[in-house]
Order: sequence, then C-alpha cells, then structure tokens
Amino acid sequence: MKLLTSSLLLAVTGSLIIGCNASKKTTSTTSSIPSLRDAYKKDFLIGTALNNSQIEQRDSAANSLIIHQFSAATPENIMKAQIIHPEWDRYNFDLADKLVDFGKKNDIKITAHTLIWHSQLPNFMRNIKSADSVKMYFENHITTVASRYDGKVYSWDVVNEALNEDGTLRNSIFLQKLGPDYIVEAFRLAQKAAPNTKLYYNDYNIEQPKKRAGAIEIIKKIKAAGVRIDGVGIQGHWNMNDVPLDKVEESIKEFSALGVEVMFTELDLSALPNPRGRNNSADISNTAAYNEAINPYTKEFPDSAQQKLAKGYEDLFKLFLKYKKNVSRVTFWGVDDAQSWLNDFPVRGRTNHALLFDRKLQPKQAFYSLINLKK
Ligand code: G3I
Repeated sequence: MKLLTSSLLLAVTGSLIIGCNASKKTTSTTSSIPSLRDAYKKDFLIGTALNNSQIEQRDSAANSLIIHQFSAATPENIMKAQIIHPEWDRYNFDLADKLVDFGKKNDIKITAHTLIWHSQLPNFMRNIKSADSVKMYFENHITTVASRYDGKVYSWDVVNEALNEDGTLRNSIFLQKLGPDYIVEAFRLAQKAAPNTKLYYNDYNIEQPKKRAGAIEIIKKIKAAGVRIDGVGIQGHWNMNDVPLDKVEESIKEFSALGVEVMFTELDLSALPNPRGRNNSADISNTAAYNEAINPYTKEFPDSAQQKLAKGYEDLFKLFLKYKKNVSRVTFWGVDDAQSWLNDFPVRGRTNHALLFDRKLQPKQAFYSLINLKK
C-alpha cells in the first residue's frame, strides 16, 4: 500500500526520488506504475526493442514491465540475417518463434527487423562474389523468412538503411550486385511472401532534408512500380540536447502526404556529449575514442539532466500527438538504460541514460512526463 501510494504520488509529480526503495527483482513496482501502452492506446502503438535475454524472459521483473508498458516490440538483433540465416541453407528460427509466441500471448504487435540490410549479414555473404549468387540469396532469404512469419508478425522492416546522408543510395552489396531497383524488388518479393504483413522502409536521419528526399524517392518508386509499401520508419536516434523538432514535423507531413504510415521506430535520446559534434549517424562503423570528459554520468544521472531528457521526450510526444492520425507507432530502442546500444556507441564503455527506465528498471522523470501529457 505504501509503495502504491508513493508510486501514485510520483506519477503526479514526476519526482526524481523514484527507485530508492525498489529493487530490480520486485515485480510489484512494475504493475503499480501507470502504463504507457494504456495511456496512448487511442493514439498510437508504444513499442520497445527486445534483446535475447528479454525474448527468453530470463528476468521476471523485466518481463512484467515489458508486458505492462508496451503494445509493440521489435527484436533488437535476432531476426537480422546474420542470426536468423547463418548458413546458405540453414535458418535459425528458435528465438524468432519464441518472440512471436510472446507477442501473441501478451497482445504485443511484432515488427520483424529486418530483411535486407547491408550490416550484420551472414558470414557466407562475404565470400559471395557473383551477382547471380547475391540474387539467389536475396530471393531465398526474403521468401523463406517473410513467408514463415506471414500473419504471425504484424509488420516487416523490409529494407533498412539503404541511403547515404545526401539522399543517394548507399553503396551496399545489394546496390553493387543487383542495381538500384533492388529496393523495389525486395518489396515485391516481401509482398508475395507476406501478403498479410505490413511492409516498411526504415532508416535513420531521414528527418533531415536531403536524406528525407531520398526516402521519398524510394517510396514513390515502389508505389510507381505497383508494389505495396505501408509505412516509413524514422529511427529517431537523437541527442537530448539536439532534438530536430522542426525537421521531424516537416517529415511527418511530407511522408504522410505520400499515403504511408509514419513511425518512430528506434527512438532514444543520448544523454551524453556527442564526440562528433552534431553528426548523428547511427552507422555502427562510425565510432569515436573514449575519454572521461565525454562520460560524465557514471555514478548518477543528476536532476538537471533528468529534466533535459524529460523535456526532449515531452516535446517529441507533443508533436506525435499533434499528428496522431499519421503516426501509427513510437518504438523505444530498448527497455532500460542498461540494455541500450548507446552505452557502446559511438564510444565504447560509457554509461548512457537514453531511455525511460533506469538500470534498476525504475521509471525516470521522462516516463512521467509522457504519462502526464495524457492526463
Ligand atoms: O552476439 C554477439 C556475442 O556472441 C558476442 O559475445 C558479443 C561480443 O561483443 O557480441 C554480440 O553481438 C553484438 C550484438 O549487438 C548482440 O549484442 C554485436 O557485437 C553488436 O555489434 C550488436 O549491436 C547491435 C547493432 O544494431 C549492430 O548493428 C545493437 O545491439 C543494436 O541495438 C543495433 O541496432 C541498430 C538497428 O538494427 C538498425 N538501426 C541502428 C541501430 C543501432 O545501431
């Protein structure tokens, strides 16, 4: 009762003393705090990215929190080609099957991620030289994986990160061997293999004008070929001190004018200094060196920073709510701060605080700001 009362009080005030008397292993806290999926159920889906441990439900407190808070989920890694298709004619569906069961049981819509991406490709792809073999891989991979999960997952990120920052096509193995029409062909194959699954293009920085123009061209080209594309995912890897609100708003307008759903698919706001200035690439090859000055919050995440993070999320969600007719899902790239890829990117070994739940799975001020927006 005491715990419940204090949680309710915190929900109202958004206070920062949360978590002092709660341990990671108690599940009562997760059910006594408000639910984001409920608060936003009339607006859009609220998603999270799940790692192996979460998909295997190894931590019961994390599991309760996920079920209570999220109406959508994306596998952070396990449906990428390297993992789900490790050898030419061998597939590894175990964890993806588990995820599908988990989603069904808990009414969580799964976005499978991702069919065609230049990164995290299977090792055997490194030895493939001929265009015919790449084409065969491309067709087999899309057809086998997408058809297995048709009607079981809600949606697919069919093509991921095909663009350079200037809006031209990335010089990936697919562009090199299959030519610029490979994106349309990926959607054509996915449409055939997964007629009951929504199909999306997903990329980072496509709120930025040049790259956005490239994404618009891709969407138009797919549609002009008479092929289905249902939506576009703006990943949303930003910094809490530099959220590109104007560009996000322009993007929502321009993408929805094309008749596709707009989603924020990998949202996180880094709380740490960006060693690359305002360069915000999510390309994992784009790393930087460690120094202590760029790792300021190893012991605690102070009040002033909590407030900045909360403000960043609040501004974004006000915008998402303004365009709730066009925005169908907002997915955070992870459940809690310990899981976040941003602890190791673009600099290895930092302590980031980019998400709504801290390392003890306790909701932060940013969480309550988003709950309070719906009061
Ligand atoms: O599975 C191996 C494990 O066997 C090994 O012991 C360990 C040692 O480092 O590495 C493990 O693989 C790591 C994998 O995550 C699973 O934890 C990889 O090194 C690591 O590179 C990989 O990072 C993922 C990254 O994509 C790879 O591209 C991140 O978790 C994941 O959050 C990130 O997600 C991407 C989206 O898919 C696309 N958009 C950008 C986003 C952030 O980079």
